[in-house]
Amino acid sequence: MINCYANKKILITGGLGFIGSNLARALLAYGAKITLVDSLIPVYGGNIFNIDDIKDKVTVNISDIRDQYAMTHLLKGVDFLFNLAGQTSHLDSMLDPKSDLEINAAAQLAILEVCRKVNPALKIIFASTRQLYGKPEYLPVDEAHPVRPVDVNGINKLAGEWYHILYNNVYGIRACALRLTNTYGPGMRVKDARQTFLGIWLRLLIEEKPIKVFGDGLQLRDFNYVDDCVSSLLLAGASENSNGKVYNLGSSEVIRLKDLAELLIDINGAGSCELVPFPAERKNIDIGDYYSNFDLISSDLGWRPKVGLNVGLENSLNYYRNNYKHYWVDSE
Ligand SMILES: NC(=O)c1ccc[n+]([C@@H]2O[C@H](COP(=O)([O-])OP(=O)(O)OC[C@H]3O[C@@H](n4cnc5c(N)ncnc54)[C@H](O)[C@@H]3O)[C@@H](O)[C@H]2O)c1
Repeated sequence: MINCYANKKILITGGLGFIGSNLARALLAYGAKITLVDSLIPVYGGNIFNIDDIKDKVTVNISDIRDQYAMTHLLKGVDFLFNLAGQTSHLDSMLDPKSDLEINAAAQLAILEVCRKVNPALKIIFASTRQLYGKPEYLPVDEAHPVRPVDVNGINKLAGEWYHILYNNVYGIRACALRLTNTYGPGMRVKDARQTFLGIWLRLLIEEKPIKVFGDGLQLRDFNYVDDCVSSLLLAGASENSNGKVYNLGSSEVIRLKDLAELLIDINGAGSCELVPFPAERKNIDIGDYYSNFDLISSDLGWRPKVGLNVGLENSLNYYRNNYKHYWVDSE
């Protein structure tokens, strides 16, 4: 990848979160000047410890992306916006649909309006989600698959994604969107299942408690290690081919959840898992089997995931074993 990021001004929304903080670390290696904006709302994934090793090399601004005045100030003069801030919990989007709407849809539109007014020359990379496809009609799911979100989060992320594509098409503000699949690795929220079930699985394993797998455990999923997700964001930002495009991420290493739990136990060298009935509120928004076709981003941008589950899960386990005190309190 040609280094288009050297000395460039980069804004990462959600920069204290899981993917944002890993992206910041990668961009520093390219010599970028980075500002992270994050609200640090406790129920979301932001964690100041995520940037502990780079805190002296980045600028941190604790603001809410719903604050139009803060965003106007932050977006002026920026070359790249990696727009990652979001409410990520599917269940929470059903319990508090308004906050999900405000953050994942309305604030995205407001950000784009600010860009149009004060900085139309920037390039935006938006983190979308595979959740907006809903229950797959066929596998692997490609970008032509019908979009039928099964929860409020999927609808609002879809709106957020399409505002970006619309502003690209109508106003020429270069923007693209990546539909992320399950992403995991150091820095993800593990204290509960708000961000991903894999997070709480890691916690349970480290606490020597059984992993709980919902249903029959036969659901198929694909996973990306965070470094692979970061490399897709960097490639999308660096290319003019990506403008106006929506890309799936994914992996050809497809696995049943029960087998994933067993793999994790194997890597850990100890532990157990049990099948438990799906809680009704989760069953209602479950998407069944899912894995992506990611041929489009492979052919357009040359992206392929490189880190296998074995290595990625081992890295993740080691990280949380060493750093768990920064991610959960034993009594919580
Ligand atoms: N991790 C995944 O598996 C996955 C899958 C699909 C899509 N995504 C998308 O990728 C993006 C990053 O996800 P992540 O996994 O790093 O989650 P994360 O929760 O760790 O990061 C999101 C960050 O956004 C911040 N944030 C939330 N609301 C905000 C607001 N109003 N103002 C400012 N900051 C706010 C949070 O504090 C958090 O740090 C999200 O937009 C998410 O929808 C992630």
